[in-house]
Amino acid sequence: MEKFYDVAVIGGGIIGSSIAYYLAKEKISVAVFESNQIGGKTTSAAAGMLGAHSECEDLETFYPFARRSQQSYSILEQELKELTGIDIRRTEGGIYKLAFDEREKRQLRVLCTLKTVEWQDARYIRQTEPAITTEIVGAAYIEEDVHVLPQAVCRGFSQGAQVYGAAVHEYTHVYDIQKNGSTFIIKTQAGQYEVGRVVVASGVWSNAFFQRLRLQNRMIPVKGECLSVWKEGINLKHTLFHEHCYIVPRNDGTLVIGATMVENDWSEKPTIGGMEQMIAKAKTMLPAIEGMKVASFWAGLRPQTFDGRPFIGFHPEDDGILFAAGHFRNGILLAPATGQMIRDFILQREINENWVKAFKIDRKHHVFV
Ligand code: FAD
Ligand code: GLY
Repeated sequence: MEKFYDVAVIGGGIIGSSIAYYLAKEKISVAVFESNQIGGKTTSAAAGMLGAHSECEDLETFYPFARRSQQSYSILEQELKELTGIDIRRTEGGIYKLAFDEREKRQLRVLCTLKTVEWQDARYIRQTEPAITTEIVGAAYIEEDVHVLPQAVCRGFSQGAQVYGAAVHEYTHVYDIQKNGSTFIIKTQAGQYEVGRVVVASGVWSNAFFQRLRLQNRMIPVKGECLSVWKEGINLKHTLFHEHCYIVPRNDGTLVIGATMVENDWSEKPTIGGMEQMIAKAKTMLPAIEGMKVASFWAGLRPQTFDGRPFIGFHPEDDGILFAAGHFRNGILLAPATGQMIRDFILQREINENWVKAFKIDRKHHVFV
């Protein structure tokens, strides 16, 4: 038997790495077990938008949780830089959520009632973004929906956790969790570990653990395909967003164009059809895309739950086991608040009741119908 840890986190994506960071910071002995490389799966496919407003379809539950997480990023940026030297590339500018006609403008009305969102008409927008299409009537401008570099955040969390004493085992696939009196045995291909508690944070692959731990919960993969292009003299300052399609200006000279929504496809390879779809949508927002050179393309699997909300909380019958998975389109945005919530469960600190209820594992209708 290998070493004993208070907590084992299964999965070293942005969610598992955030959990490890916030636990290690509290001096809890924690180990992350990751089948591949830290942040190498869905996390590395993400555009990195912190879309608390632009991705919000639920002002009551999603929004306050997402805002808490988004606001944590300004502290984290500094904290991770000092601790690890990693720059998470938090990029100002915000998002224009575009409206192409009066109907779409009306749909943005509720969002525009928030004091952090401002309606801007097309003429004004074109002064700041001259390359944008002339077809829009205006946009909801969300200055605080900035973006980060997902892999940098994930590495920052992971290295930060290690500075605080966490162990990180890459290329260490966990194939079983067994109860051992008041502890657990984590079985990996590199040996067995005894741990006090287990947190399953294995993204869409958490399904295997739901099954092993006798739970009905399931997630489906929703594949997202992206490409990036060299921006070639178009100095886009804001992210453009319309109907799940976006163009994100990274500060390495590329624009990230994403992303398709292909349900139940477990392949992590982009298709020609997906690329065509994204290019066509991007051209409606920024016609100059046509002449830009392709830098890269990729795909990742979003973990989608039956109601679009993540599962964050205890196994209903065993408080030695916790889950943090199913962050769907917003795992980068929600990573800090998720790490903090798991920390607070483990340390028995007070947690917002609405969030506990909304994300609990055995909430109603917990399977796909
Ligand atoms: P993952 O990153 O998939 O990590 C899970 C890890 O668990 C993996 O590394 C895997 O190898 C490991 N694992 C699995 N099984 C085991 C096992 N048995 N043993 C050990 N390790 C295991 N979100 C945003 O907030 N903003 C965005 O702009 C954004 N854009 C996106 C664009 C695309 C194209 C896609 C696909 C997603 C996007 N997302 C975005 C969503 C975001 O990427 C995900 O919600 C997030 O990455 C999920 O993180 P995770 O840690 O749960 O999963
Ligand atoms: N949040 C962006 C995406 O999932 O594509």
